[in-house]
Amino acid sequence: MATKKSVTQQSISSVLSEERLFPPPDGFSERNSIGNARALARLRTQAAANPVAFWEEQAQRITWRKPWRRALQWKHPHAQWFVGGKLNAAENCLDRHLDSWVRTKAALIWEGEDASQRTLTYQQLHAEVCRCAHALQAYGIQPGDVVAIYMGMVPEAVIAMLACARIGATHTVVFGGFSSDALRDRINDSNAVCLITQDVAFRRGAEVDLYSAAATALKKTPSIRNVLVVQRSPLQRRLKPGRDEWWHQAVARHEGSHAAQAFDAEHPLFILYTSGSTGKPKGICHTTGGYMVHVATTMDYVFDISPRDVYFCTADVGWITGHSYIVYGPLSQGATVLMYEGAPNYPGPDRFWDIIARHRVSIFYTAPTAIRAFMKWGEQWPKRHDLSSLRLLGTVGEPINPEAWMWYHRVIGQGRCPIVDTWWQTETGGIMIAPIPGITPTKPGTATMPLPGIVVDVVRKDGTSCKANEGGLLVVQHPWPGMLRTVHGDDERYRQTYWSDFPKARGREGWYFTGDGARRDADGYVWIMGRVDDVVNVSGHRLGTAEVESALVSHPLVAEAAVVARPDVVKGNALVAFVTLKAGAGTDDIDALRTTLRNHVAVEIGHIAKPDDVRFAEALPKTRSGKIMRRLLREIVSGGTVSGDTTTLEDFSVLEALRAGEE
Ligand code: WT7
Repeated sequence: MATKKSVTQQSISSVLSEERLFPPPDGFSERNSIGNARALARLRTQAAANPVAFWEEQAQRITWRKPWRRALQWKHPHAQWFVGGKLNAAENCLDRHLDSWVRTKAALIWEGEDASQRTLTYQQLHAEVCRCAHALQAYGIQPGDVVAIYMGMVPEAVIAMLACARIGATHTVVFGGFSSDALRDRINDSNAVCLITQDVAFRRGAEVDLYSAAATALKKTPSIRNVLVVQRSPLQRRLKPGRDEWWHQAVARHEGSHAAQAFDAEHPLFILYTSGSTGKPKGICHTTGGYMVHVATTMDYVFDISPRDVYFCTADVGWITGHSYIVYGPLSQGATVLMYEGAPNYPGPDRFWDIIARHRVSIFYTAPTAIRAFMKWGEQWPKRHDLSSLRLLGTVGEPINPEAWMWYHRVIGQGRCPIVDTWWQTETGGIMIAPIPGITPTKPGTATMPLPGIVVDVVRKDGTSCKANEGGLLVVQHPWPGMLRTVHGDDERYRQTYWSDFPKARGREGWYFTGDGARRDADGYVWIMGRVDDVVNVSGHRLGTAEVESALVSHPLVAEAAVVARPDVVKGNALVAFVTLKAGAGTDDIDALRTTLRNHVAVEIGHIAKPDDVRFAEALPKTRSGKIMRRLLREIVSGGTVSGDTTTLEDFSVLEALRAGEE
């Protein structure tokens, strides 16, 4: 059964104010394909008047084998984009670059954690993908069959995804850090017929035995017929005969060319599982044509990508960011993608800066949680390296607190690089809210405005628009090409989760509810206040956790903070803050620090947001993509046991330590 939390009854009080404004640096917009502020304003107006026409225009970026008959067919809540059109996503990422000079430029520059390197030109990547496509077809894999990919950050993960796309198989990438149970559940939910994995992956110098985890999962996955294993370790292990094959044997015997078939625009490209509020994995389904148009467009508009860039996105291919902005977006644009296998702090906390300096990276895209870790490790690490090649920085994943934004701007961007704070979701497929670098003035902590062609609003529960700075619910009011099409095998859950809060009503289309609380400031900039499920109600005020956390992190000793509510007889809820301190910020008098931090919040945002309790922790429970699992903290402070799904938790010992602190 689909479960669903009810959304807020009232609006959310916004308590944070951030006044700093950063105009675009001179000279940046020279190459920008939109041009200047006036051109952007005109584009916004046109797109607002007719979003479908805007996206039809953008669809010219993609190579179509057969033109579409209809750009959008919308039967609430199901959209079809570019109906009747045919294309091949892999062809759009590879073949179409082969008749230009891009053919011999690097598509992928891969760096292993052990510093080994591989560079694949577009021509070489194309050949590898073709070989793999043949190997999958030799297994009898048909268009529409699901192939699971359980790998680390190795080039073969990208090759496998594109090979699936090439033959019309739907891939489902399961993050290599997930357990064998999580893999088993996702394989069974998607009915995958083939698994592509590797023997071991490397993380912080240690081997992670992916094959053994996969083998355990495969004991209970009847749908899997074939397993392809990439060898990363010099020690060749025994595979299960009949079912398993080594990649280097199975793939190498095929030829490096392959006639790609064209598929319907609405052919399923991939399923990506995301954490829901229940234990049952939620398979987000994306299709081909609209998705490719969305990621290609945003790659240009938001990342200002050009073939001369070296683009480094630190996400894992197991997340939507990896799908859209390591694979399909940048490769469709002929970009050079830097792909790094390992941890950011291996062998030292300057690994990313070392990579940027050596490869002369020009665009760097990472997450606020990573930026806070860099801050915690100290600015001496980036300072050791030449970061002058950088020209654009990006963030995604959660609201970036202004302190982290300022640090990123000053220390990494050296005051020179615009920052694109990009708001989007696994479900949206591509970026929805972000500045246009070189044109949109930025403010620390906001993703600024929706992109042209994207229609969002911040509304009250009854659907009326919020006033400027009134916190409410972030909705998308018009279908967009990269949107999810359904939840795999559970269309009812799709309707319930995303479309039931603002149903079709008289005079109004149904709207997509993002699950996020937000406010719009007087300039129309959208400030995300966190997930509505995380909103805390204190003495009748509804506060977004992101704001209280941001205030805490603005204290010089604090590295990271998570705020949750504990039921309280007097106030309804009391605020409990979990705080980790910066390296070297040890303090003898923990009680004094507690008082200092409580007062700091009172000064920053007011008495109402002052935490009732501050608890110090070594680490916070996070998902593997770096999101703090506030649900678990809530369960801890309410004295209950942690009962919900924890398969996405990165490090169980963190939870143990926090629980122990309870006693
Ligand atoms: C949720 C989606 C999109 C890839 C990574 C996360 C939060 C994401 C931002 C941002 C504020 C953000 C939202 C959103 N979020 N980007 N720039 N500013 N919040 O994908 O795991 O599907 O999570 O992440 O709460 O709804 P995801």
